Amino acid sequence: MTIALQPGPAPRTAVRGRYGRLMTWLLRATLRLDTAIHRIWPTDYNPLYYTGGLANLFLLILVLSGLFLFFYYEASLGGAFDSVRYITEGVPYGGIIRGVHRYAADAFIVAVLLHLFRNWFTDRYLFSRDNPWISGMFLLVFGGFVGVTGYQLIWDERAQVLTGLFLGLLRSIPGVGDPLARIFLGGAGVSDGTLVRILFLHIAPASTLYVLLWWHYLRLRHPKIWPPATWVLFSVGLIFLLAGIIPARGGEPAAPGARPTGFPLDLFFLLPFWLLNWIPPGGMVAALALLVVLGLAIPYVGRREHPEAMNVRHAGVAQVIDGNCTGCELCYYDCPYNAIIMVSSPAPGLSRAAANRTLLAVVLESRCVECGICVGACPFEALELPGFLERDVKRLVAEAVRA
Ligand code: HEM
Ligand code: SF4
Ligand code: SF4
Repeated sequence: MTIALQPGPAPRTAVRGRYGRLMTWLLRATLRLDTAIHRIWPTDYNPLYYTGGLANLFLLILVLSGLFLFFYYEASLGGAFDSVRYITEGVPYGGIIRGVHRYAADAFIVAVLLHLFRNWFTDRYLFSRDNPWISGMFLLVFGGFVGVTGYQLIWDERAQVLTGLFLGLLRSIPGVGDPLARIFLGGAGVSDGTLVRILFLHIAPASTLYVLLWWHYLRLRHPKIWPPATWVLFSVGLIFLLAGIIPARGGEPAAPGARPTGFPLDLFFLLPFWLLNWIPPGGMVAALALLVVLGLAIPYVGRREHPEAMNVRHAGVAQVIDGNCTGCELCYYDCPYNAIIMVSSPAPGLSRAAANRTLLAVVLESRCVECGICVGACPFEALELPGFLERDVKRLVAEAVRA
């Protein structure tokens, strides 16, 4: 993080050509959308503020409904389709829960994509926020993969086509494709073992999402991980309503040796498989890999401004003035980047206020983005940015007043 210290000459064109203009247009459009929504709901209820929280809510619904389905599901060629049919038609409320699982999955992906685009368009992926962005890309990839294996689990005709296409994608990966396909199949062809593997590939990445979420929040102070109760009730109600009105259905059971050619599309998870109508498997694997790499690179190459064109100078990592720190913890709560920890004070402070302290603030250098928020938070003048001292601020203010 850098702070403009010298007013100096106006920065050279800081906005990057067409990309910069597009991003600025998207930022303005996002803010205009917020303003329009605020005319209907008070600010705190703007659902777009809670896209991450809503994704969390849908994920929890997926886990709970998935647990229910798991107890009735049979991972075998002969049993998978029938067990799903039994859940839908034989188990009390089974059809509803299956529908809830399906619609929560779609809602999850929609919330995640809205969350991604909103953070992207409003520049909330830069500097220290590269951590939630990078972990977010992994969440997206894992979440998308879980959806695909979910459709395979039903083992209807669509699942059969998807599994064939998936094997084609795997085999097109140079070098490791064939061994990977064999591991996935668990033998020479599709067998009971394949269904067990698909079940594993559904549950294991889904569980990993929670580990990735821990990483996602690691550098965020006070993340809004849950939407307001109104939106929780509305979303849960809507999903149950949809599951009741339009029940989730599978197609015809998969038949050994059958070669079905088409499948009903689910836009949210199965788009790449549909695109295989025009793109060869190798091209699709390359395109998906490229998308992921570009997504991961966004925090580093996607800035709308060239740092060197911003006429800035480093403010320096925040420093605690040991003698003044009273251990009040205000900076610890205010630092948005979780860069301050409180440790047991090794000795009393020097100032009268700090004489009886039990805690001492310590700045984790690797996390500090030099934003200066803690300097404002500290009532005891115990924090400073070495490259941007109070006297610099006073001088700048004086210059601005004179100008
Ligand atoms: C399982 C999927 C995901 C869940 C449940 C989730 C959840 C959240 C939550 C609850 C927050 C805190 C929001 C706040 O305090 O305003 C957050 C922040 C963030 N997320 Fe996600 N997220 C997911 C996927 C993603 C993806 C796919 C991306 C982008 C690649 C992403 C990028 C970010 C960024 C950059 C922030 C920081 C925003 C800020 O500090 O204002 N997330 N996420
Ligand atoms: S300057 Fe202070 S508030 Fe900002 S990241 Fe560093 S420690 Fe946190
Ligand atoms: S706000 Fe100031 S006095 Fe309080 S813990 Fe942080 S550095 Fe110490």
